Amino acid sequence: MNNPQLDKNGNLKHLLSIEGLPRAILTQILDTAESFTGVSEREVKKVPLLRGKTVCNIFFENSTRTRTTFELAAKRLSADVVSLNVGTSSQSKGETVLDTVDNLIAMHADMFVVRHSQSGAAHFIARHVGPHIHVINAGDGRHSHPTQGLLDVFTIRRYKPDMHNLRVAIVGDVLHSRVARSEIHALTTLGVPEVRVIAPKTLLPTDVEKLGVQVYHDMRAGLKDVDVVMMLRLQNERMSGALLPSAQEYFKCYGLTQEKLALAKPDAIVMHPGPMNRGVEIDSSVADGNQSVILPQVTYGIAVRMAVMSILAGNTEAA
Ligand code: CP
Repeated sequence: MNNPQLDKNGNLKHLLSIEGLPRAILTQILDTAESFTGVSEREVKKVPLLRGKTVCNIFFENSTRTRTTFELAAKRLSADVVSLNVGTSSQSKGETVLDTVDNLIAMHADMFVVRHSQSGAAHFIARHVGPHIHVINAGDGRHSHPTQGLLDVFTIRRYKPDMHNLRVAIVGDVLHSRVARSEIHALTTLGVPEVRVIAPKTLLPTDVEKLGVQVYHDMRAGLKDVDVVMMLRLQNERMSGALLPSAQEYFKCYGLTQEKLALAKPDAIVMHPGPMNRGVEIDSSVADGNQSVILPQVTYGIAVRMAVMSILAGNTEAA
């Protein structure tokens, strides 16, 4: 089947979703990111790989981590960066998404980083732009958040290098989570043998087993002997109707506490894509505890996003 993310030679043209990408491309991104981790620690945090290129961040939905790390990543690659504040752009006067994109193309944009509440928005823009322009999905509805999935597996690989001998638990609101979908596709493509999802039935997609995961409704059983605990935010903004009794009840059954974490392996790492709801899905003592790698995830996001942008631009030599 034709993959809109790849060119006729099988090289990455857009990054829209992890689903359908071959293991070799995921490994290329992770290995390239490895070479960029040192750049952020230099006195001059820059390499010239995207010099002369223009990267446009267009975020139709709020973001702290993704937007900022994409902007930093592009600047560290020496690109010119425009971050359009959609709230104060002409979108508010009725301009369509494609008219906004066309106007930025008229300013010679080379790459778009797009976040939108509608699933498929980045695919829609990728179909519209010319062959020399690249589109990166920075999160579309509940569909996909590929760079988050990649930075999560990059973080796991850094702490647990033997990916073929891992048990990973993803806990919480899988139903509304684009992050969970991207993580599951990345982990299974990279050969992680056991991926568990832990959630109440109301927060799991139907047929979730078809994604290659094991399903647990009891958090204590699901956490037993896992190497990685990946917590998800309760996505209240995407819920229609009451799917849960109360936040307190949810925390009691599915909140990560020190007592529940003790069921995982003693050296298990705790992850969360952010933003966190402390006291809803995770206790502060765990979020800030010595097994937490939540802030390193954010740091690695810069190297992973540098890798994706440099691969799309066809220039990956870390200077
Ligand atoms: N993980 C993530 O997408 O965070 P932001 O919404 O802050 O970008």
